[in-house]
Formats: sequence, C-alpha cells, structure tokens
Amino acid sequence: MRKKIVAGNWKMNNNFQETKKFLSQIKVKEIGSEVEVMIAPAYPFLKFAKDFLVGTKYEIIAQNIHNKLHGAYTGEVSVDMIKSLGLNKSIIGHSERRSQFKETDEILLEKANLCLNKGLGIIFCFGEDLVDRQSKNHFEVVKNQLINTVLKVEKNKWSNIVLAYEPVWAIGTGETASPKQAQEIHEFVRDLISSSLGEDVSKKTSILYGGSVKAGNAKEIFSQDDVDGGLIGGASLVSEDFLTIIESNSSY
Ligand code: 13P
Repeated sequence: MRKKIVAGNWKMNNNFQETKKFLSQIKVKEIGSEVEVMIAPAYPFLKFAKDFLVGTKYEIIAQNIHNKLHGAYTGEVSVDMIKSLGLNKSIIGHSERRSQFKETDEILLEKANLCLNKGLGIIFCFGEDLVDRQSKNHFEVVKNQLINTVLKVEKNKWSNIVLAYEPVWAIGTGETASPKQAQEIHEFVRDLISSSLGEDVSKKTSILYGGSVKAGNAKEIFSQDDVDGGLIGGASLVSEDFLTIIESNSSY
C-alpha cells in the first residue's frame, strides 16, 4: 500500500521565533488520518520542533545529511546526529544540493546507503532541468539519475525510501508541471522500479511531486494515479496554505 504524504521543505527559511509560531498554528489543527505529514525545518530547530509536536501527527525530518559518518567536515551534520534526536527521515538529493553544493550521483548513493543502513528513511529527490525538458530528454535524465543512485540500493531497504520528482524548472518559479506531465513521469518511474526491483516494490513506493505546488493546484496534481503526495517548498512556509495542501491529499 502506497502512503499518501505531504512534506514541507523549509530550506533556509524560518528563524526560531518563526518556527515556533508556525508550529503553534498547525499544532491545533486536525489533519486527516490517511495522510502522513512531514516538516523539514532548519537543523538548529529540529530538536525543539520534534519535542513541540510530540503526540501530534506531524513528523519532523531533516533536509540533508553528510555522506560521511563523522570526522573533519566543518559545518556538516551526520546521520548519527540526526538519529540521536529521534528523527527517522531525511531529504536527500534535492536539486539545490546537486547544483549549488555539487552533490553527484556517487555522493547521493553514498548518502542513501548511509541513511538506510543506519535506519534513517529517505525522501530521495530527482528531476530534470529546463534544458533537458526543452530537448525532450527528461525521461532519459530521470532514468539515469535513478539508475545511478537509489536503484542500486538493496531491495530490502526500499520500505524506507520515498521518491520525490522535482523538475528543476518548476522549483520556486511558480511554473508547475501540469498534472499530465507529473503523471507521465511518475508512471514512468513506477515502471522503472518495477522492471529493476519487481512489482512488489513499485506498488509500495510513494512518489511525491514537488515544484510550485500551491493551495490552489495541489488537489489536481495529487489526484493523478501515480502521484502520492507532494514535497512543498514556498507554500509550506504559510500555515494556512500548508494545511490546505494537506487537506488536498486527504480525499483520494
Ligand atoms: P517550491 O514549492 O517553492 O517550488 O519548492 C519545491 C521544492 O524544492 C521542495 O523541495
């Protein structure tokens, strides 16, 4: 059974007071039992956020982890540090990490294996950039991104993997992939998982869409057959919008 998920990726936004204010606003709201909701605040507030939301349906997750276990990596955060806070998931491979921090497929595979071997689930992001889309290379690019990374992960670890298709041209641009564009890639990825690891895995893997999901377009995107939810950037910073997006994934 694929899980319905809405996850908010706050990126480098919200200081401590803003984090507290947002979490206070959502904490008092009931959310549907059929959707899993995750929020990825900045590192310094993970412990606070987790403790603040204890007993609610919201799960706090990390935005990233380093690809080495520990050592001389100034400013970085390890999988063990995240686990020691009682957190169970991290986003991996966001396009901003790939492009701005030069994270290659090789590094991302290292991160994925490190997390999964330590029992930390991952939301693994992938997606083509504008040039790939314009040259109609998007299926090939997505396929290679996955073949070089998560599809190399052992089958028995897949229960802890969620995928997030985030076309780079739709991130923070206000330009969303149409529901049809999202569906065709999600279906393609599900078939790819099936042919690589078996239908049992592909049937159980949640695939989220991310890229300018807003309160007004979430429902139509989430209603597509192979779209199991969303990874939300900008709209996850506004509590009313985020709650509407969660609600949009509750009735399918
Ligand atoms: P936006 O929703 O702001 O386009 O960001 C999407 C994203 O990058 C989520 O990880």
